Formats: sequence, structure tokens, C-alpha cells
Amino acid sequence: MSRRPVVLLTGASGVVGQSLLREEAEVTLLAAARGPVEAGRAARVVRCDVSQPLLGLTADAHRALAAEVDAVVHSAGLTEWGRPAADYEPVNVEGTRHVAEFAAAAGATVHFMSTAFVAALLPGAPGGLTESNVTTPYVRSKLRAEQLLAESGVPHTVFRPTNLIGDAVTGRTSRGQIVQSISDWICRGRAPFVPVHAGNRIDVVPQDLLSIAVLRAVEQGVDSGEFWVTYGPEAMDMGEALRICTEHAAERGRTLTPVPVLDPEDPRAREVAGLSPMTRTYLSVLRDVSEVTRAGGGVLPTSMPELRDRFGVPKVADTEAYRATLRFAAGG
Ligand SMILES: NC(=O)c1ccc[n+]([C@@H]2O[C@H](COP(=O)([O-])OP(=O)(O)OC[C@H]3O[C@@H](n4cnc5c(N)ncnc54)[C@H](OP(=O)(O)O)[C@@H]3O)[C@@H](O)[C@H]2O)c1
Repeated sequence: MSRRPVVLLTGASGVVGQSLLREEAEVTLLAAARGPVEAGRAARVVRCDVSQPLLGLTADAHRALAAEVDAVVHSAGLTEWGRPAADYEPVNVEGTRHVAEFAAAAGATVHFMSTAFVAALLPGAPGGLTESNVTTPYVRSKLRAEQLLAESGVPHTVFRPTNLIGDAVTGRTSRGQIVQSISDWICRGRAPFVPVHAGNRIDVVPQDLLSIAVLRAVEQGVDSGEFWVTYGPEAMDMGEALRICTEHAAERGRTLTPVPVLDPEDPRAREVAGLSPMTRTYLSVLRDVSEVTRAGGGVLPTSMPELRDRFGVPKVADTEAYRATLRFAAGG
């Protein structure tokens, strides 16, 4: 491409969308959102509802946008866990179908933000996900969206990030997500124990690393490939994560008593009577996320070496990035 590619970014108001809109890139970004959005580096905002046919646009507006766009970064999604399967259909599945139809009309490549949790559902995965796992309907919807893109014949890449944290150096994020909430709970000394399967890695990735990889892929005109945005075997274990939480608490004048790490099947990990509803919820989420990681083999697949070589993703220690995330979440 001789001119800067024009990129439609769905989910522009989300955590990933906002991170993408902060990064410098040789692309013209159009921020697609269904409501108000911080436009960042975007050239303009486009009102889109991906759950609607034609992305909620008139036929003329859809045609005009398709004539302009070279690539779509598809980041819109229902990301909250614990909803019934039907809730994920309109946005995660049908929304991806509408994006593929738009891309076909535009002759554009789609860069799809999936999730590393699909590792637990792929053929050959050592374990499985239980129906009661809080993430199962979400993860299934993301895998279905991947399949739909493959069936569409539209050129596309699939990025599979693990749980994202703030920017690598500053810890910045537009909104705290599950890692920040659970970390805060641990750092305040509220966790009676943490349920994690032995051998699991705690794989969290700074959001700017994902953004850099995606934007370089767009600039390079990459139109195929699956990229696991994870640390894989480099990822910290729960002992290291807890050590960082303990140090973070100490910086704020709090002494954390050591938090036991229990196998989720350990009878002591079932003793939740008398714990607050919040604590029970977090323990249950940790158990379910641990099940996802274990179902994928305990260590998530990773493309990190390729992302560094091919897209110039900086080499960042996850432990340092996690520290920065805790500091940012605590107000600096
Ligand atoms: N953040 C992570 O840790 C993580 C990890 C793995 C994968 N991912 C994937 O990365 C993508 C982005 O995640 P995120 O953290 O940025 O999610 P997020 O903060 O929850 O944002 C979701 C985005 O999707 C938009 N959206 C929802 N329904 C829409 C619709 N019908 N039409 C248009 N836009 C709609 C939301 O817009 P509104 O503001 O209007 O609601 C918002 O911009 C998701 O697809 C997610 O599955 C994220």
C-alpha cells in the first residue's frame, strides 16, 4: 500500500480500543463506536453497532465506508463473563459476521481480537471446560467467531490475548478489569487463599504490547496468521505474583500475611462458608480461570518470540509490568 491504510477500529471505547488509539502508527484510524468515545489518534468517529446488519448503517453509508477502508481491527465484543450463552450471540458472533460482510464489501483484511482462552477448547487441548465455568459461554462465542471468519473466506488474522493489564511501563489503562480487581483484593489482605492448579502459569500481558503487535501487522499488510499474545513459559507463577502483591502492599504500609496457594480440589479450598460474597466471587473466578489454563495445558501457547521478531514488540518482563499495573491502579 503506498498511502497510509485506513483502518476501521470496532470497540474503540473499550480497553483495547483506547489502547490502540494511544499508540503511534502509520495508519489512519476511524474509531467505530455505538456511543461516546475518546477519539485519541483517530481521524474521526464512526457510529457503528456491530450487532446490527450493515453495522447499523444505511446501505449508502455502509457502501461509502467500505470504499474507504483497507482493514478492520475488530475489537468490539461482550467481554463480561458469567452471562448466558445467548447474550454473547448478537455482538460476539453475529457482530463478527457483520464485520466479515463489511470486510468482504471493502476488500479489507480483518484483524480479530479473540482470546487466548480458546486454547482450552481447541482440538488436542489436554483438558476441557466445565459447563459451570464462568468463562465457558464467552470463550465458546469467541471460538465461534474465529470459525465464522475462517468460513467467510475474508483475509484475516486472529490475535489471542490472555488477560490484559495496563501499559508495560506506566501501568495505564482506560479502565481496570478483572486482574486489577482481584489484585486489589489480594493486596488489601482479603484473600484467605488463592485456588490455582499446580504448574499453572499466571499469564497476563500489558495492553500496549497487543496494540503494538496489531498496528505493526496492519502497517505491514499482514493478512493471515494466528498470534497468541501471551507469555507462555515465560509467564510468572502464582508465588511470584503473590510476592509482587506483598511488596506492593508493603510500599503502601500494609503487611500481608502470606496467602496460601491451594489446589482447587483441595478440601480446604472448598471451605467458603462465612466468607463475604465478594471474596466468594473472586475465589470462584480464580478457580475457573485456573481451570481454563489447566485445560490448555497449564502454560498457554505463545507467539511472543514471533511478535518481538516480526512486529518489534518490546521485551518486557511480565513481573515488572504487573508491578506498574498495581501502582497505576493504586493511584501512582
Ligand atoms: N481486555 C482483555 O483482557 C482481553 C483479553 C482477551 C481478549 N480480549 C478481547 O479483546 C476485545 C476488546 O476487549 P476490551 O477489553 O477492550 O473490552 P471492553 O473494554 O469490554 O470493550 C468492549 C468494546 O466493545 C464495544 N461493543 C460492545 N457491543 C457493541 C456493539 N453492539 N456494537 C459496537 N460496539 C460494541 C463496547 O462499546 P460500548 O462502550 O458502547 O459498550 C466497547 O468499546 C474483546 O473482543 C475481547 O474479547 C480482551
